[in-house]
Amino acid sequence: MSVNLNIHNVSKTFIVNGKPISVLDDVDLDVRDGELLVIVGHSGCGKSTLLKIVAGLEQPTTGRCELNGRTITEPGTDRCMIFQEHRLFPWMSIGQNIQFGLKGRSRGERDRITDRLLGMVKLRDFRNAYPSQLSGGMSQRAAIARALATDPEILLLDEPFGALDALTKIELQDELLKIRRQQHSTMLMVTHDIEEAVYLADRIVVMSNRPGRIEEIIDVDLGEHRDRGGTAFAGYKKRVYDHFVQTREPALVS
Ligand SMILES: Nc1ncnc2c1ncn2[C@@H]1O[C@H](COP(=O)(O)OP(=O)(O)O)[C@@H](O)[C@H]1O
Ligand SMILES: [Mg+2]
Repeated sequence: MSVNLNIHNVSKTFIVNGKPISVLDDVDLDVRDGELLVIVGHSGCGKSTLLKIVAGLEQPTTGRCELNGRTITEPGTDRCMIFQEHRLFPWMSIGQNIQFGLKGRSRGERDRITDRLLGMVKLRDFRNAYPSQLSGGMSQRAAIARALATDPEILLLDEPFGALDALTKIELQDELLKIRRQQHSTMLMVTHDIEEAVYLADRIVVMSNRPGRIEEIIDVDLGEHRDRGGTAFAGYKKRVYDHFVQTREPALVS
C-alpha cells in the first residue's frame, strides 16, 4: 500500500505561565511514499513538537495531519516514533521488547518476525540479553527493530542517533538506509546534524527559528551511495549551513 502523510497548515501554540508561545507557524508539508524526509532546524524551533503532532501525542492548535486520508487524532500502530534514547523496556529481553507489539499474533508468527528483525539489525545473538547489557548503538538498533515489528506505515525518528559517538552514528546511518531499502519504509526524521541530513535525505526541510516555519525544501539529488567527501555533498552541506548561520541567535559573547 502506498503511504502519504499530509501536514496541512499546522500551527501550535503552547500556553506557558499563562502566556501563549507560538512554536509552529503554518507548516504545510507532504511526505511521499517511500521517502526519507529530514527536518533540520535550530534547537527549540518546534521539530519535536511537529513529530509529536504527527505521532498523535500532541494536537495542532490549527491545521491537521492526515495519513492516507485519515485525520490523525491519537497515537496508532500505523506510526512509530523512535527517540534519541532507546526507551526499551529494561525488564524485558531484546526479543521480548520486539515481540511487545505482536501480542495478537500466533507464537510461530511472533518468533518468525522477531528472528527476521533481529537478523536485520544484527542482534541475533542478543535475543535473550537485556537492554542494560547492550551498547548505545545496539540499543538503538533494537529500538528500530521494535518499531518495525508492528509494520508501521511511517517511521518517525526524533534525533535517533544524537546520543551516539561519531563512528557508531555513521554505522547506524548506513543500517537505516539498508533497512529502508529492504522494507521500503517511509520515514520522517528530525536532526540537527547537517551532514546526517545530507547523507540520508531525499529532501531536507529547513525550518526557521521558533515559531518554526518552513524556510526551504531542498531536493538532495545525490543518488543512493553518497560520498561524504565529495564536492556535491559539500555543496548541499553549505546550502543548509548557510541557513543556520543566517538564523542563529545573536552570540552571547562576541
Ligand atoms: N508541552 C509543552 N508545553 C509548553 N512548551 C512546550 C511543550 N513542548 C515543547 N514546548 C516548547 O516548544 C518549543 C519547541 O520545542 P521542541 O519542539 O521540543 O523543539 P526542538 O525539537 O526543535 O528542539 C520550546 O520552546 C519548548 O520549550
Ligand atoms: Mg527536539
